[in-house]
Amino acid sequence: MPYTTLLTSQDADGIVVVTINRPDKLNALNDAVIADLGALAAWAASDASVRALILTGAGEKAFVAGADISQIAKTDAASGAALSAAGHAAFRALERLPKPVIAAINGFALGGGCELAMACHIRYASPNAKFGQPEVKLGLIPGYGGTVRLPRLVGRGRALELLMSAAMIDAVEAHRIGLVNKVVPAEGLLDEAIALAKTILTMGPAAVAMIVATVDRAFDLPLDAALAFEAEQFGVACGSEEKREGTTAFLEKRPAQFSGR
Ligand code: COA
Repeated sequence: MPYTTLLTSQDADGIVVVTINRPDKLNALNDAVIADLGALAAWAASDASVRALILTGAGEKAFVAGADISQIAKTDAASGAALSAAGHAAFRALERLPKPVIAAINGFALGGGCELAMACHIRYASPNAKFGQPEVKLGLIPGYGGTVRLPRLVGRGRALELLMSAAMIDAVEAHRIGLVNKVVPAEGLLDEAIALAKTILTMGPAAVAMIVATVDRAFDLPLDAALAFEAEQFGVACGSEEKREGTTAFLEKRPAQFSGR
């Protein structure tokens, strides 16, 4: 795929490492990056050879240091709303991919960078990673999902503190509050993210896809409706070839051979 702001490399297992590549601007998200991320999500959704995405940032300093402030400076009310909506569409498409999407956060994840990481299914961070939503310092609010996903991930009180104070927190604190899943030495960050993707790829791919879709849908439903939805999806899973193979393999004491490739 020809991208202007992303580097991609796909291994034999179908794991694609995607590097956001504007290191001179700490990988800030301009229109071109957002368009490329949207195209990436569309490609990953439609190409069966893509089995997992790992997102990281170019250079040693930043994952993504936010939306591109030089571009934001030129927006007015209408173009700002359009910019936000375009980011939402791209991030949501990544979030809804029926295959694992893992953020390998190798430095600053500020503003749109923190928001992009939050749209990924799982976040691993190196010890030098820094997180924050500093928009309020610019007289702004987050526009790529920060007011929505941050409270859902870390709770409303912690989210409001980060959003209102523009505080920058380190990887250990981000881990403590549930913003990242794991802190990993910088030199092993990509390898650990790839190892996680490989583990997930040994599971039933249809079940993995169903887990993403069920959590995504059930998260915002009232408890009883969420449980009813889970029961419905569980029923679909119970009728699948994948479940027949998984349960048979267990009973026959052999590894399951899932056909999802
Ligand atoms: N948008 C546009 N350019 C950005 C950027 C952003 N969000 N973040 C960094 N850059 C650019 C800088 O302007 C600088 O470009 P230049 O060399 O052409 O002047 C380059 O990236 C390097 O950044 P610099 O500020 O020199 O690095 P630093 O190590 O001193 O500071 C940060 C790093 C992340 C603390 C600082 O760059 C920063 O505060 N960035 C903005 C974070 C932010 O507010 N994000 C939310 C935006 S809505």
